[in-house]
Formats: sequence, C-alpha cells, structure tokens
Amino acid sequence: MDMKEAIERIIAELNGLKCASQKEVEEARIRFLGKKGEVTALFEEFRAIAPEMKREFGQKLNELKKAATAKIEELKNAAEEKAVENAPRQDLSMPGDALPLGSRHPVSIVRQEIVDIFRKFGYDVAEGPEIEDDWHVFEALNFPPNHPAREMQDTFFVSNGHLNPLLLRTHTSSVQVRTMETHPLPIRVICPGRVFRNEAISARAHCIFHQVEGLYIDKNVSFADLKQAILLFAREMFGPDTQIRMRPSFFPFTEPSAEVDVSCNICKGKGCNICKGTGWLEIMGCGMVDPNVLKASGIDPEVYSGFAFGMGVERIAMLKWQVNDLRHYFENDLRFLSEFATATEV
Ligand code: PHE
Repeated sequence: MDMKEAIERIIAELNGLKCASQKEVEEARIRFLGKKGEVTALFEEFRAIAPEMKREFGQKLNELKKAATAKIEELKNAAEEKAVENAPRQDLSMPGDALPLGSRHPVSIVRQEIVDIFRKFGYDVAEGPEIEDDWHVFEALNFPPNHPAREMQDTFFVSNGHLNPLLLRTHTSSVQVRTMETHPLPIRVICPGRVFRNEAISARAHCIFHQVEGLYIDKNVSFADLKQAILLFAREMFGPDTQIRMRPSFFPFTEPSAEVDVSCNICKGKGCNICKGTGWLEIMGCGMVDPNVLKASGIDPEVYSGFAFGMGVERIAMLKWQVNDLRHYFENDLRFLSEFATATEV
C-alpha cells in the first residue's frame, strides 16, 4: 500500500476513534503506537522509501505520530474523568467517626451536685486560697493555742516559726472566716474546695481531699433551722425517703456540735455491709457557730447567730457509687474515670 494512503487512512481512523473505557484507550494506544503498532510500522517502511521522498514523508510521519499521541492522550483524559464520575460516591449521610470525649471527674460531679442543691436553697458560693495562714484556719475558729490539729502530724506547714505561719488549709472553714470578715450580714454561703491533711494514704484516708462547708448567719438562726437545712439537703442528695439523725460531737468552732448520719439508702435501714449493719451512714459535721468565732470576725453574738456544716466530697461520692477505696479518686486511672462518662452527658 502506498504510504500516503496509509497515513490518510490512519488519520481518518484516529479522527473517528471513540473509546468507552480506559482499557479501550490502552488497546488503541497499542494498536497505533505500540512496538508493533500501525504508526510504528510506517516508520519501519519509511526506511525503505526512495530518498527523494524522504523529506515529504518524514514530515508527514512525524505529524502523524504527534497527532496520534495527542489523540490517545485526549481519549485517556476523557476516559479517566468518566471513571472518576462513575466511581461509587461517598455517602454523605453516613454518621461521622465519633471523637472520644473526656468526662468530668467523679469528685467534680458530686461537688457540683452538692453546690447545685445549696444554690437552690439560696446559698452563694465562696472560694479562698489553699495556702492559708494560721489565723483563718485555726485561730479565728476558736482552736485553743495547743490544739492537736495544729501539730505537725495533721497540718502541712509552708512556713513556720512565727506568730501566723502559712500552711495548707486543713478544712474550708477558713473560707467561712474570710466571708465573715468581709461579707455584709446576713451570710448564706457554701465553700467548696480542696483541703490537705498530713495523713498516711489508705483506702479510708488521703492527704488531699475535697470539702463543701456551709455557713448561715442571721438574726434568730436556731438549731431547728440547721436541722431543717441538713434534712432538705439529705433528701435532695440521697432521695425523698432519706432520714437523718444527729449525734452530739465536738468542734472548736461550733457549740453545740453534731455529726450527721443519713439512713442507708442501700438497705433502707435494715443493715448491710455498706452501713456495717447499723442502717446509718455518717455524712457530715455541723453545729451552731461558737460565739467566740463570731466575735473573732467582728460579728456581735448578742445580735446574730448562725450554723455551720462541713462534708467530705469523696465521702459522699463513696456512698453514692459504693466505691469503697478512696485512692481510686486520686489515681486518675482512665478505666475508673470513664465509668462516670454517662453521668456527665447532659
Ligand atoms: N471543719 C470541719 C472539718 O473539717 C467540718 C465542720 C464544719 C464541722 C462546720 C462543723 C461545722 O471536719
């Protein structure tokens, strides 16, 4: 066949070429431009043609090769685009990957619950420093000068050897003193916070724990008001059938003083191993603010009276969740902490 004809035929074929898929494009590339392809074959033939025709056909062949390469490239791109278009689409309605959320610490959950209950009763929240002085932790709270709680076995001292040493507060009653010193009367506050005591760490004791203490000072505040406030709190916290009982106790800053027990909500008072068979669980200390404490903060005990109470947050958490080893609350083991995740999903 004449080379001119062959070139024209191939050009015509290339012009009409259609490929439905990437596979077909590849087949066409092999057919025209592959090692044994039609265009390649013409280059072979070209070696044998008469020298005077080489110039003309050399040019034509090069153009043919260029055109064939361009056409294949064009078909390849079109087929590729089509392949992408036809690929299975992403389902945009599929749920996303969930991000692992942290959760609030159980101590934080219970502290917030206690705070929320007292806020409902109209109490404000007061906070104070964790590093305190002897005055706010002991002296103003009517601790006699050589009370054992001031000794090294209970208190972590930051600086010692002078009249008003700095120390880590052993209770948040120090915040109550600060409130009495600065706040106008009447006073109704709760003081949540972290406290420190020099105790050996065990299942039942820790050198760091949390308290919520409360203080109510006004004219004519009586022990009956204290009892009522504690009863309402206990029923909000542990359920509407909860009973309370008060046992006489002693604190330097309250007179009279009492320990408060709530009826065991696990055995309903029948006696179980959580309440050690007694039907009662101890939850807090309380009492009427000692007149000496009012005087120390410049409040006239002849005009005003008040009550105070204080509870350990971990203790309430232990009763709520029956986790009986205090150390779990401080070890930050994620297996333990994640147990409380659902309790915080609001
Ligand atoms: N401050 C006491 C404590 O740390 C608790 C308490 C507060 C008791 C107020 C009576 C009144 O244990």
